[in-house]
Amino acid sequence: MKTYPSIEDLRQVARRRVPRAFYDYLDSGSYNEETFQANRVDLGTIKLRQRVLVDVSARSTASTILGEQVAAPFALAPIGLTGMQHGDGEILACEAAHEAGIPYTLSTMSICSIEDVAEATKKPFWFQLYVIRDRGFSKEILERARKAGCNTLVLTVDLQVLGQRHRDIRNGMTVPPQIRLSNIVDIATKPAWIWSILNGRRKTFGNLAGHVKGMENVTQLSAWVAGQFDPALSWKDVEWIKSIWPGKLVIKGILDPEDAKIAAKLGADAIVVSNHGGRQLDGAPSSISALPKVAQAVGADLEVMFDGGIRTGADIMRALALGARSCLIGRAYVYGLGAAGKPGVARAIEILKKELDVTMALTGVNRIADIGPQVLAEIDR
Ligand SMILES: Cc1cc2nc3c(=O)[nH]c(=O)nc-3n(C[C@H](O)[C@H](O)[C@H](O)COP(=O)(O)O)c2cc1C
Repeated sequence: MKTYPSIEDLRQVARRRVPRAFYDYLDSGSYNEETFQANRVDLGTIKLRQRVLVDVSARSTASTILGEQVAAPFALAPIGLTGMQHGDGEILACEAAHEAGIPYTLSTMSICSIEDVAEATKKPFWFQLYVIRDRGFSKEILERARKAGCNTLVLTVDLQVLGQRHRDIRNGMTVPPQIRLSNIVDIATKPAWIWSILNGRRKTFGNLAGHVKGMENVTQLSAWVAGQFDPALSWKDVEWIKSIWPGKLVIKGILDPEDAKIAAKLGADAIVVSNHGGRQLDGAPSSISALPKVAQAVGADLEVMFDGGIRTGADIMRALALGARSCLIGRAYVYGLGAAGKPGVARAIEILKKELDVTMALTGVNRIADIGPQVLAEIDR
């Protein structure tokens, strides 16, 4: 495989290899993309404290997430339509994550189904749920996840209505999807992508096809999904999910300390401080700026996870220093998938882990559990 020194290198290659409509779907935020950009910009303003002559020869990135041993303090985030960045994308990403010793989260809106991923991979993976209007469907899909051996449920709560991404509309990534001459011409110039998709086992929403009556093709299923977002979603639904899900429960999409406290009171095992990668409320604070207050509000009541804008190991260090126990990696690994399939995901994980390791060494830290505010530089402002 080509040498990819950084996540940015993987991104550049993915941009050339993946058809424009799918690449833009990945690499965009909602509306003016202010929050999407703030996620990255605000991480970059946090300066780390350089320490020297500390013996860091015994350091390790190993840690635990929800009691599970992990090789590094991060998991792969749920990403809808992963299998459109590369054929069988969900299976490949899950395999790469497990081989690297970290958890993988399968999105409700995946191309490969829960059963496809379970059949192809050996270890339990995490499942992400959107609770939709059809509560019967939600219940049934949880049952399927349980049967497939999923041990952790990531319940996403920041998408009861959909933020608009202008680039998707410009590219025809709408409901129903528009087949445009410009898209066909663009796709025709991406033979490696076409090959991977043709060889993939599915070309539609794998978790929905065959489970929603009368809806089989992408157009019908997309229309069904669009009508299923539920503005009436409330904490009562979280209680309901908690009552029917026997495994661990992670609530994803918390940005406010008050919401974090409610999640803790309802008995969630973890929350993810997240603004959906800047794809929902544009104008919301960056995830990293929201993290310290949320972490403070819940203390040790539950595990605090973080996502939004992580592209380097130093970003992971910043999140841990500001109160997160672990992180979810979103776009960074999907760039790897689009660039080079499974080896690309493996490389993305390796890059982040190695960068975190070097960042630990240069800040004088040996163990993940020792990372705290002391690794941040106090700079004159
Ligand atoms: C293309 C794309 C699709 C996503 N699909 C889902 C999804 O299906 N479910 C979900 O909970 N979050 C979804 N997210 C949000 C991610 O799980 C995660 O919160 C976000 O990507 C983190 O930001 P980052 O990409 O900057 O790391 C999606 C994000 C992207 C970029």
